[in-house]
Amino acid sequence: MHICVVGLGNIGFNLLTYLVERFPGEVTGVDINRQRIEMIQELGFKVTSDYQMLNAIDTWVLTPSTGNQGQTIFAVLDEMLIHPGALISIESTLPPGTMERVKNYLGQKGLILGRDCFLIHVPHRVMFGVDKTVCDTPRVMGAFTEACLEKGRQFYGPLVPNLIEVEEVRIAELCKVVENVKRFIDIAFAQEMYRYCVNQGINFQGLRQAVNSKENVELLSPDWGIGGECLPKDMGFLRMVFNSPLLEGAEQGDLTYRNEIIRRVGSGRRVLVKGLSYKPGLKDLEHSRGVDLVRRLEECGNSVVVEEALFTADELIAKGFTPFEPTSENEKQGACSTREMPDVILERNKALEGIILPG
Ligand SMILES: NC(=O)c1ccc[n+]([C@@H]2O[C@H](COP(=O)([O-])OP(=O)(O)OC[C@H]3O[C@@H](n4cnc5c(N)ncnc54)[C@H](O)[C@@H]3O)[C@@H](O)[C@H]2O)c1
Repeated sequence: MHICVVGLGNIGFNLLTYLVERFPGEVTGVDINRQRIEMIQELGFKVTSDYQMLNAIDTWVLTPSTGNQGQTIFAVLDEMLIHPGALISIESTLPPGTMERVKNYLGQKGLILGRDCFLIHVPHRVMFGVDKTVCDTPRVMGAFTEACLEKGRQFYGPLVPNLIEVEEVRIAELCKVVENVKRFIDIAFAQEMYRYCVNQGINFQGLRQAVNSKENVELLSPDWGIGGECLPKDMGFLRMVFNSPLLEGAEQGDLTYRNEIIRRVGSGRRVLVKGLSYKPGLKDLEHSRGVDLVRRLEECGNSVVVEEALFTADELIAKGFTPFEPTSENEKQGACSTREMPDVILERNKALEGIILPG
């Protein structure tokens, strides 16, 4: 068997390492980012940035980014040399309707599904930091033909403890999107209730504790706004195909909440922002609303210092932030004078309750 993982980012690289353990010598990977390929090669994996090297692949597992309304999938398909009888599994999150477009694309190349090649969608649902492997979470599989499903069973059956087959591929597509949109709405609601509580002088944490004392209810905690790569993107996917006042309201609510944090701070202040990473406990600043907040506060004429235990002061400086407690080395270089006390302290779960210290 020759397996190729396409798109070796967060999901693809973790999948590659998992598959290499299960199928030693049979797995390769491809990514258009040459720097990334070099880094993964240095770790000892057989990967390439040249699709032409991949001419005998039985199983393609596609995990590229899909931020541009899923167009990357077609860029990948354009490059792939599809070997007769190959299984093509798309694990990236897709905008609803993409699988139909993929089917038509393959049809235009003269490939009939279930005969010339086998197409399935098995969206990824890994919970990093919770799951032991990338295949622990129950996975949903959809396809256009029974033959495609059967090929999918043969590949994923031994890998995924709980493989759930759905009656049509649109359910598989929507499943992942709905999962993330549901989370978006839950967070937007928590932010909205927090905004209400702060305006009314009600202790939101007290409300949360009271609400969450019932087993089947969970009022989430607010943060700097709804960030990360997936939630806003997948909300965008659903909004493209579904004109829903609820979805529109959730997006608007998130924007209002983020604007409210900025409005409350105002301008000309010295602000300490505590917690920058996109999620507490995850050392990652990509798509972080904490980063957006710092930049917007600066644009409004505030001077902002940051505290993020996951990063060293040097790492923060390299990324263009001013750490609150600089290393003596930074002080020597005069990078910032951060000993001065801030007059506003913002914490990520108390973003609207910035402590304004007496001036
Ligand atoms: N990160 C998560 O926790 C998570 C969870 C579930 C689902 N997903 C979904 O999985 C998909 C991938 O997410 P990710 O976080 O790994 O993204 P990522 O941005 O970390 O990685 C994507 C990789 O795809 C590569 N790529 C882009 N175009 C390519 C092409 N034409 N050929 C080969 N490689 C190409 C990029 O260079 C990059 O290395 C997305 O659809 C995402 O929504 C992510």
